[in-house]
Parts: sequence; structure tokens; C-alpha cells
Amino acid sequence: MTRSIAWQDGAIEAVDQCALPHEYRTLRLSTVDEVIDAIQRLAIRGAPAIGVAGALAVALSARAHTRDGVCDEIAVRTEARRIADARPTAVNLSWAVRRVVDKLGGGADAVLAEAVAILVEDEERNRAAAGEAAKLVRRLCGPEPLRLLTHCNTGRLATVAWGTALGAIRLLAGEGHVTEVLFGETRPLLQGARLTAWELAEAGIPHRMLVDSAGPAALAAGMVDCVLVGADRVCANGDVANKIGTYSLALAAARAGVPFVVVAPESTLDTTLRSGADIVIEERAPAEVTAFGGVEVAPPGTGVFNPAFDVTPAELVTAVVTESGVFRPTGTAEERAS
Ligand code: MRU
Repeated sequence: MTRSIAWQDGAIEAVDQCALPHEYRTLRLSTVDEVIDAIQRLAIRGAPAIGVAGALAVALSARAHTRDGVCDEIAVRTEARRIADARPTAVNLSWAVRRVVDKLGGGADAVLAEAVAILVEDEERNRAAAGEAAKLVRRLCGPEPLRLLTHCNTGRLATVAWGTALGAIRLLAGEGHVTEVLFGETRPLLQGARLTAWELAEAGIPHRMLVDSAGPAALAAGMVDCVLVGADRVCANGDVANKIGTYSLALAAARAGVPFVVVAPESTLDTTLRSGADIVIEERAPAEVTAFGGVEVAPPGTGVFNPAFDVTPAELVTAVVTESGVFRPTGTAEERAS
């Protein structure tokens, strides 16, 4: 499977997620501003993918600010802050930027080596997390073929390769354990309709799309054996931020007695935050909601609330699964010390 993001001849190459499903094309990004723009437009999106892009963007910065073998660390740190702030909710972005900035003392080559290490690890860790999640789903749901529900896109496009929740679905399908995958279209930017549908078709996995508001009805109607989603940030108490619409699926899953499993690499855990109340939820432009396919659908001047993510409380989550197995919420380091 080809990687969705790579370092190639001094620049970042990434699948343009805005062009899919109509066109599969690659962006070549060679400046920090181009990477920030790609992250903010969601041409590169998904928590692990933006982490990797952010780390590689710091490498671009370090190379651009190196003269005669000397790196201007102040300039790079200033750009690194802008990169980390490009989107606020997925912790993977600031985590990855911090990890490479810590290597600045070793110069631009050390920064690039660390960014490439994050890229390589991302594929390995997501495959491992997906494997752990697939095992758990089989334990929770038994040997019968499964009807699964997912949301947004958590596949190879949202990561370097393979995917998290969609990676687990790939594994289960490969073992003949999947009858059907339902997925929400994921309003307003249609990551489900455009990207998950494309990935499931590519993988040959049977699937049907739902309007987002039909997810709870599908759960109530007994059409789903397990919900599998990704995450943008998981707090010390196990609260989970993920794409808007995840919370309503978790509520409906709890009501229907259906397992609700979150799959994410450990880079998505943020045990510095006590609970989901501390997570900054990105709000996006009203224009994403007031128009559809370029056609205005709301009267001019209509007020809009357009959060990109919501928070699912830990009590609605059956398990958060990482590459190390099931995450056990233990509180923040401060709470553990007190
Ligand atoms: O706004 P997006 O498309 O970046 O949101 C992505 C999600 O919410 C994903 O579920 C999450 O990042 C996990 S991707 C493996």
C-alpha cells in the first residue's frame, strides 16, 4: 500500500484529500506556508497525518533557515509555533512539532531524521493499534460476521498508511468477519462520503453511506454490531474528541447496548488534560455550512455554529485501543501524584 504522505527530494508529497474522490493527485509542498494552508484546507487531514505533516514542515523550516551549516533556531521555533497552531484539536500536531523541535540542537538533518522517524512509526503504530482493536472487537462481538458503523475517515488517507478504526475494519474484513460497513457522510466537509467511501471501495469491503443524522436510527434499529471510530485527542480521564457527530453515535450505541470502540495511536493521548472540558474544539468557517457544492443553501446572514469536533465522555466509550492495547484512564500526572 502506498503512503499518503512522504518526504521526497526535499519536499513533502501528500495525497490531495480535497481532490478525492474525483481525482487522485499528489501535492508537492516545499514551504511552511504551503503546509499550513494544506492542513487548514483539509487537503492533509486526520490527526496522525497532520502530525506527520507538521513534523516535516518543521524540517522544511530548519533547512530554509540554515546558512553555512548554522541553523537559526529562533526563526525555526517561531515557524514551529505557527505550524502547531494550524489546527487546535488534534494533539498529534503539537506533539509531533514538539518532538522535532527538541532535535533542533542537532541541526536541520537531525530535525528531518526525527520527522521521518515519526512518519515511519505512524504506519507501524496504527497497524498495531488496528490489530489490537480487531482482536477486541472479535472478543466483544463473537465469531459471527459483523455489521460495523464508522464516522469520518480514519483510513490510510488520515494516517501515513493503513489507518486506525478503518485499519481495524480492513483487518476484520480480510478475515471474512464483515458483512457491511455503514458510515456517516460527515457533514459539512464529507470526509465519509468522499474519502471513506473511496477507501472502502478500493479495499473491496461492502459498504453503505448514511446521512449523519441516520446513525443513531441505524443503531436503534439493530443494524449495527459495533461502532469503531478514531480520535483527535483522548484525555487523562478517557474523554475522546473526534469528528462532530461522534457523540450522538456514542449516545445511541450506549442506548442500544452496542460496543463503542475508539482506535488511536498513543500520540493521540493527552494525559496533561484532565477531561474533555479542557479540549479546544476548532470552529470552522460558516461558509462550509451555508453552501453545499458551491450553491448557497441558507438565507444570506444566517448565523452558524460549525464545530469540527465533539467530545464523547469516557462513560460512553467501551474502550480506547492503542498500539499498547486498551488504554486505562488513570488521571493526569498531577492527580496521580496527589
Ligand atoms: O477534520 P478532520 O477530517 O481532520 O477530522 C478527522 C477526525 O476526526 C478523525 O476521526 C481523527 O482525526 C482520527 S484519523 C485516524
